[in-house]
Amino acid sequence: PPDLVGRHVLITAGGTREPLDPVRFLGNRSTGLQGYALASVAAARGAQVTLIAANVSLPAPAGTAVLAVETAVQMRDAVLATIEAGVDIVVMAAAVADFRPVDAAQYKIKKTGDPSRGPAPIELVTNPDILAELVTLRRSSAQPSAPVIVGFAAETGDADADPLEHGRAKLIRKGCDLLVVNAVGNGKAFGTPDNAAVILSADGPARDVPLGPKTVLAAAVWDEAVRRISVPPRP
Ligand code: CTP
Repeated sequence: PPDLVGRHVLITAGGTREPLDPVRFLGNRSTGLQGYALASVAAARGAQVTLIAANVSLPAPAGTAVLAVETAVQMRDAVLATIEAGVDIVVMAAAVADFRPVDAAQYKIKKTGDPSRGPAPIELVTNPDILAELVTLRRSSAQPSAPVIVGFAAETGDADADPLEHGRAKLIRKGCDLLVVNAVGNGKAFGTPDNAAVILSADGPARDVPLGPKTVLAAAVWDEAVRRISVPPRP
């Protein structure tokens, strides 16, 4: 039988939006294509799929249950509620905003005021780190090896390190089982049907997935994740 039969998988997809006022938000360029590819491949391999989608305008993949959210806090709440139901693999493919405006204005912010003072600064607070919360929750649970936790890292590299070096440090910092490292920027990854990545693991060698359809990367992620499940499938 397909290897995800009897498995419940949770995937987050898209990009969170953090409202500034009723018409504006802080957001990112994620379209949800990679998360949706993960969901459709998992469903085809027999999984029960919960897809938590932030601001994605794509049709729901066949055989998946989609929960729509907007903000990082809403995504955290939906993820934790789904985990309660028992999940074998969590893949955090969504681009989650690290910060949000302190509070969203009730009315549209106007540019009127003293022009010599310039615009008012936007005050931010830190969002919950959902991936880190999942790792902490698992550590303190009765079943500390479940679920398998997979993170994504969109890295541009910088003056200090290349994308892969940043990825290795992030895998250790976040404490997840697998980290899918994408090199992004300059039109790479966002909104394109193809993706290239390196799948880093805490317990084995890195797996290089060359540029190809996002469904191919998705299949490689499930291959790696399913090998690390330590509990028997549900009947
Ligand atoms: N993530 C999360 N909650 C957040 C931010 C990120 O769960 N508030 C998850 C993402 O879904 C992704 C992983 O963490 O799976 C890595 O996200 P990334 O934004 O690259 O990590 P950061 O913690 O923001 O790291 P840095 O800012 O140092 O690059």
